[in-house]
Amino acid sequence: MKLDWYFHVDVDPSTISLLQTAADAAVLTEGIARPCMVSVTICDDEEIQEINREYRNIDRATDVLSFPSVNYPKGLTAGQCDKQIKMEWDAEAGACFLGDLIISLPHVKAQAEEYGHSFQREAAYLLVHGMCHLMGYDHIEEDERKVMRAMEEKILSSIGQTRDDNTVTDEQLLALAREAMQRSYSPYSHYPVGAALLCNDGRVFQGCNIENASFGLTNCAERTAVFKAVSEGATEFTAIAIASKVSAPWPCGACRQVLNEFAPQIRVLVTWDGGQGEMLLTDLLPHGFGPKDLQS
Ligand code: THU
Repeated sequence: MKLDWYFHVDVDPSTISLLQTAADAAVLTEGIARPCMVSVTICDDEEIQEINREYRNIDRATDVLSFPSVNYPKGLTAGQCDKQIKMEWDAEAGACFLGDLIISLPHVKAQAEEYGHSFQREAAYLLVHGMCHLMGYDHIEEDERKVMRAMEEKILSSIGQTRDDNTVTDEQLLALAREAMQRSYSPYSHYPVGAALLCNDGRVFQGCNIENASFGLTNCAERTAVFKAVSEGATEFTAIAIASKVSAPWPCGACRQVLNEFAPQIRVLVTWDGGQGEMLLTDLLPHGFGPKDLQS
């Protein structure tokens, strides 16, 4: 799923990454089989008001505007309209153009405060709402509104963005770590480890230990999860759950150091066949060396 970005105001990289994840999830959940593209403009209230006035004759600012390019037959959405989507093929982009989205950043901020959830949560919601319009959903009639709302929820929950910010409970995070442990590649130590890293925007990245015949190249579960998160643009972490079988999998020194780079205050939860525990990284790595020490 390609997003063609137009930033008319500053947007931080982790929000951009979350919006890309949300757009990918929308297309995947809807079941669109073709490569797609959407243009996304992030602007201020003045600009969105101007667009609203020019194209919809409504002279006020709003949170999100969507301009679908696909002509969906009444009652059908993108997943059922391969033929119509195919007609929007853009050879240069190598994708079918679903339309334009305009999001007002000041509205994201204001609505996040009003609803008492994070900026990231609101940004993801508005992107998904707009994506649903571009995929043929609407909310004029009550029955279609219900269908659209359900679709929005389905997309948002597939990326860990449910109604409340802290919907991933410790129990769920531990379960995700246990699940990741099943994918451990540990033919040498036979010590499988799984991790689930919770980001401040609600996303969870899982990781497992990945061993190598050249033993020193082994990557621990925790670092697999951290590297996956950072490479997807998420760098703020609130908790990590780590699972193993035979003993308490407190993170090794290298993993403590890597966690300390991004989240010195992170909560570390462990689970194994014999029990469960929790500590703060500040207690596992007292007097840790980190980015702050390099500031002159
Ligand atoms: N391991 C982890 O995945 N995390 C830790 O913090 C400690 C050790 C893995 C690495 C190796 O595959 C196996 O456990 C035995 O050392």
